[in-house]
This record gives sequence, structure tokens and C-alpha cells, in this order.
Amino acid sequence: MSAVLPFARPASRRLALLGTGTVGTAFVQRYQSLQSRGIDLPQFSWLANSRTARACGQQPAQALQHANDAARDVPVLQPWAEAEGLQRGDVVVDATASDDVANWHEQWLARGVHVVTANKLGQGAQLARAQAITDSGQGGGAHYGDSATVGAGLPLLSSLRGLVAGGDRIHRVEGVLSGSLAWLFHHYDGQRPFSDWVREAAAAGYTEPDPRVDLSGEDVRRKLLILARASGIALRAEQVQVTSLVPAALAALPTAAAIEQLSLLDAPLHAQWEQAREQGGCLRFIGGFDAEGATVGLRIIPRDHPLAGGAQTDNRVAIHSDRYNAQPLLIQGPGAGADITAAALLDDVLTITRAR
Ligand SMILES: NC(=O)c1ccc[n+]([C@@H]2O[C@H](COP(=O)([O-])OP(=O)(O)OC[C@H]3O[C@@H](n4cnc5c(N)ncnc54)[C@H](OP(=O)(O)O)[C@@H]3O)[C@@H](O)[C@H]2O)c1
Repeated sequence: MSAVLPFARPASRRLALLGTGTVGTAFVQRYQSLQSRGIDLPQFSWLANSRTARACGQQPAQALQHANDAARDVPVLQPWAEAEGLQRGDVVVDATASDDVANWHEQWLARGVHVVTANKLGQGAQLARAQAITDSGQGGGAHYGDSATVGAGLPLLSSLRGLVAGGDRIHRVEGVLSGSLAWLFHHYDGQRPFSDWVREAAAAGYTEPDPRVDLSGEDVRRKLLILARASGIALRAEQVQVTSLVPAALAALPTAAAIEQLSLLDAPLHAQWEQAREQGGCLRFIGGFDAEGATVGLRIIPRDHPLAGGAQTDNRVAIHSDRYNAQPLLIQGPGAGADITAAALLDDVLTITRAR
């Protein structure tokens, strides 16, 4: 049986996981799958959620089970924040959506602890925090693996950083950055009410438990901030003009009541669908930035527009730069889902452990 912290400190590099939900569970499964194929991985030392922390021993899946079985009516625990919890050279994986955990990224990096994250609140929230993370990583020699934060591991951030490192200036980036909103606007046909499609997307696990989180555009704002900052642009959250799909009356309701009242979405969305049909275009929820500013919202685009294609939960991003001037570099692929997000996290872990 897995033991509750504290536990003895081993000599080798350790791996720790924060967050044992959808992504954390997929991470443990992939870790074990890669391990069974003989891939050299760092020792999985411990995992934690907001209630408990568990040493893993040889059995991370068992520790995961114990962590997820832990009682819910306890105060939020932060054993991972203790100074001796993580040492220089260790790798901590953040699979939470917690602002408190994101607040630790900078300090871990400054201590030489590598951080790998699916949590967008490190680089996708306050500019000061994002800059502190970048500075700490450069100063402390630790690596920040963030490829899971946008596009669930699609080569978006690496492409932007590669272009900038090669001397290109990024002129404009725009894209369909939300898997759930991509799915909704690939399916919405103006016939069935939009709220029906939202319920179907929620049942399939494509949306957050409260779909307003996706429909508000806030998630896309965070992704856009991460992309802009990776392009060397110090974009602030308040500089992104977000047009939410959620009417004020729906935004004001508590979650359970809002889910009952999703039909408040239907009339305004149908009107926009009708407008798109009249123009011979289609609706896509797009985030983009250029020298003029940054916007997030629903747009009517021609059916042959670079961002109109794709299917299901595909993300699709167009990068315009010095070298991709006449035609953008297009990156497309599944951009949501626990398994591909977990794979992106483990890719980053392996990149770190093989290089250092
Ligand atoms: N799901 C996807 O397809 C997907 C794709 C890309 C990125 N992401 C990102 O991945 C992250 C995780 O998503 P998810 O779907 O796995 O969420 P989730 O199922 O809600 O799991 C979140 C986990 O974080 C833990 N947690 C919360 N606060 C914590 C704290 N202070 N200390 C330690 N653990 C804490 C929770 O603990 P409890 O169990 O105790 O509540 C829970 O285990 C999010 O940032 C999300 O945006 C998700």
C-alpha cells in the first residue's frame, strides 16, 4: 500500500505529479505504459491532489487510486510546498488548474526544479508571473515544459519559439484554439438548438463541467497570452478583447441553474448562424493577435479561409511571420483530450531528463 508523505529522499532524480483528475490519471497510465515498454523514465516519487499526497513506490496507479479515494471534506493540503519536498534536478508536473500551484512555478524553477505543466495559469495569466517564470528558468538552469498548455502538445509553441530563435518576426497568429468550441461550430447546423449541441459536447467530455468556462472565451484568452508571450510579445490579459458567447443573464446564474438555462444561448447564436449563411461563410471561434491588438470571439469567415477546415476537436492555427508572409504556416490537429495532453506532458518530462 502506498504511504502518506513524508518519506525517505532517494538519491536519483524524482518525478512528482500534482493533480490526479482527468489529465493526472491519463499521465499515470501513460507513464506505466511507457515503463512497461522499457523506456527509461525518472522515478515516480509521489503524487498529490488538493486533499492528500502519496508516495508511489513501484505502484503509481495504486497511489493514484488512494489519492482519488481520499476524503473530500478536508482543508486544501499543500505538502508539496514544503522546502524539502522537491530538490534541484527533480521534475514536478502540474496537472491542476490551480492558481496556487501556478504561483509556485517560479519558485520551483529558481530552486532548480524542472516544471512541466498543463496548467495555463503560469504563462497565461498575469504578465508579471509569466515574466518571473521565464526569468527564473533562465537564471536557475531549470526547464519549463509547457507544450501541453496550448494545443495539447501540437507543435505550436515550439514552432513559434523556433521562428523567433531563427530571427523571424511574428506578424500575426490566429487560430481555433479551443477543442470544445471547434467541435461545437463544426456541428452546429442552425437546425437543432445550439444548447443541444453544448449538452452533447459536455456529455462527451469536450467541455469543462461548467460549459460557460469554454463559451466565455477565457480559456482561449489564456492560450492566446501564452502564444503571444512565446512570440516575444509582452501581452497583458486586459489587452485581449474577448467577446463572450454567454449572455449576461446566463453568466449571472449559479452553475446548476446555468446548465438548466443553456437555451438562453440559442437565439443569439442562431442569428449569427443565419448571418454567416447569408454571407456564404461559416462560424469559427477565433483568437488572434498582431501589432494592432488581440481579440477573441466568434467570427464569420469564408469557407475557404485557412481556419475554416479541420474537424471534430481540431485546433487550427495560422502563423504569419517574415518567412511565412504570403501564405501562413498552418498547424492543425487534435488539440484537446486527456490522453494527448498526458502524452505532451511526458514528452516534456523525457526531453528534460534526456538532456540534463
Ligand atoms: N482535460 C483536458 O483535456 C485538458 C487538455 C489540456 C489541458 N488541460 C489542463 O490540465 C489541467 C488539469 O485538467 P483536468 O481536466 O485533469 O482537471 P480535473 O479533472 O479537474 O483535475 C484537477 C486536479 O487538480 C487537483 N488540484 C486542485 N487544486 C490543487 C492544489 N492546490 N494542490 C494539488 N492538487 C490540486 C484536483 O484535486 P482534487 O482531486 O482533490 O479535487 C484534481 O485532482 C487544467 O489546467 C486543464 O486546463 C486539460
